Amino acid sequence: MLDQNALKKLAGEYAIKYIEDGMIVGVGTGSTVKYFIDKLATKKNYIKGAVSSSEQSSQLLKQYGILLFDLNTVDCIDVYVDGADEINHQLQMIKGGGAALTREKIVAAVSRRFVCIIDESKYVMKLGKFPLPIEVIPMARSYVAREIVKIGGVPNWRQGVVTDNGNWILDVYNLDIIHPVEMEQKINNITGVVTNGLFAMRPANELVVAKSDGSIIVEKNGGIYG
Ligand code: A5P
Repeated sequence: MLDQNALKKLAGEYAIKYIEDGMIVGVGTGSTVKYFIDKLATKKNYIKGAVSSSEQSSQLLKQYGILLFDLNTVDCIDVYVDGADEINHQLQMIKGGGAALTREKIVAAVSRRFVCIIDESKYVMKLGKFPLPIEVIPMARSYVAREIVKIGGVPNWRQGVVTDNGNWILDVYNLDIIHPVEMEQKINNITGVVTNGLFAMRPANELVVAKSDGSIIVEKNGGIYG
């Protein structure tokens, strides 16, 4: 039985097989993605470069000498590789445990193919055990929290954390996420919300799961992006 960190490494390194010469690669954030970046560095002379979803990942990409593109100069990202905090069988996710959800969602939106890399503990039947992160404009924190209570959530301010965009994070417990798309839209409609960590409207196209026996399972989602 491999531990969780070893599984993250397995999944992160496996994802290099999705990278082809000349690609612009979208790079997510987190401890699983870190292993992907380590591997991507070995291909740095063959890819065009990367678009990063966080300052944390940018730093590592720069250390490796991987060329970084500003997203505004790129029409389309070939493939986006990122982790998740939870993912269901429709490849809808909760993300944002690392507070990078907004940039991650933007990079995912511009990407033709989203490959999610996880250890098997992240795979769930129903989303919502992991508290849903919401990025909020600081002055709207209390207002958004009150609105969240009205839909049955229990918000908790992640104190001391400021996102790369200068905003704050509410982690929401107790949400009954039966319809992830509707919930994503509903929360995004609250004034003061920048975005929430439900990735349901734009799920992953492929899921790489590292299982505790060391094997890898790949699941595909035909979907509209497939
Ligand atoms: C970052 O904001 C998140 O969306 C990460 O993708 C997610 O938290 C997974 O992180 P780990 O790979 O560190 O578990």
